[in-house]
Amino acid sequence: MTSVALPTIVRTGEEIRKRVRDAQRSGQRVGVIPTMGALHRGHLSLVDAAREECDLVIATVFVNPTQFAPHEDFDRYPRDLDRDAALLGERQCDLVFAPSVDEMYPKGFETSVDVGSVADPLEGERRPTHFAGVATVVLKLLNLVPADFAYFGRKDYQQTLVVGQMIRDLNLPTQLRVCATVREADGLAMSSRNAYLSPDDRQRAVALSQSLALASQMVDMGERDVVRLRAAMMNVLDQAGGIDLDYISFVRSGTMDPVDSIASTTVVLIAARVGKTRLIDNREIG
Ligand code: PAJ
Repeated sequence: MTSVALPTIVRTGEEIRKRVRDAQRSGQRVGVIPTMGALHRGHLSLVDAAREECDLVIATVFVNPTQFAPHEDFDRYPRDLDRDAALLGERQCDLVFAPSVDEMYPKGFETSVDVGSVADPLEGERRPTHFAGVATVVLKLLNLVPADFAYFGRKDYQQTLVVGQMIRDLNLPTQLRVCATVREADGLAMSSRNAYLSPDDRQRAVALSQSLALASQMVDMGERDVVRLRAAMMNVLDQAGGIDLDYISFVRSGTMDPVDSIASTTVVLIAARVGKTRLIDNREIG
């Protein structure tokens, strides 16, 4: 086994900001990958993308309490910084910014970022405080790590739109990079929450990506009607059993605008509960 250097773990905003400034002053390009840890190959693909175009690569690991509703899984969200740091070291990540909750939200913290209508439908409707929590923490992270590029996964399609809207509206100097969804061999989109799935539910969960693949095939064969596409997808989910569908939605690519027929590039978004675990996935079709 070859040994790899562990990335330096930085705990304070003051120190990470200084390191970013020093790097940029000496002409280095800085990339940041915001994460909540429990890293998998999806996260690590973002590190690889940053490594390709940046001199200094920084991952942030922070389970952000403000994006979880009280009944959600904040307390049981998997946390293992040593494991995450080792994986990041293998991908030549230079620094890990892992602040405490008190560092990010000291007593008296009150500000919240509202990005407007992209945050309203789908995930925003089911999780009403979620995107304000995401936008606020991402803005804080990008202020503390004012990187040249920030890498996000297409897996969380609506999140990429929320972050893009905020970056544009608030004139942040960081450029957004959106990277492809990394999947398990059978097609299941990688997610930290897949760890919650029982073996049976893990088998069933593949129906989400299968339903998206079917919609894509049908569109390739000429189907344009969203009602028929949705029905075919629901059939795949029904056959798997044990899947409680939350939504299937068709939007114009790059927006959250719903479409009722496939005229141009469209993104199909799906959310469902498999056993007790809520999973989301999406795919560009047409
Ligand atoms: P987290 O769920 O840890 O995801 C961190 C980043 O990894 C996000 O940009 C997400 O889209 C990306 N990602 C997750 N699974 C992926 C996959 N299978 N393929 C490619 N990329 C994937 O998203 C968050 O954390 C938080 O909301 C955060 C942005 C860090 C704010 O707290």
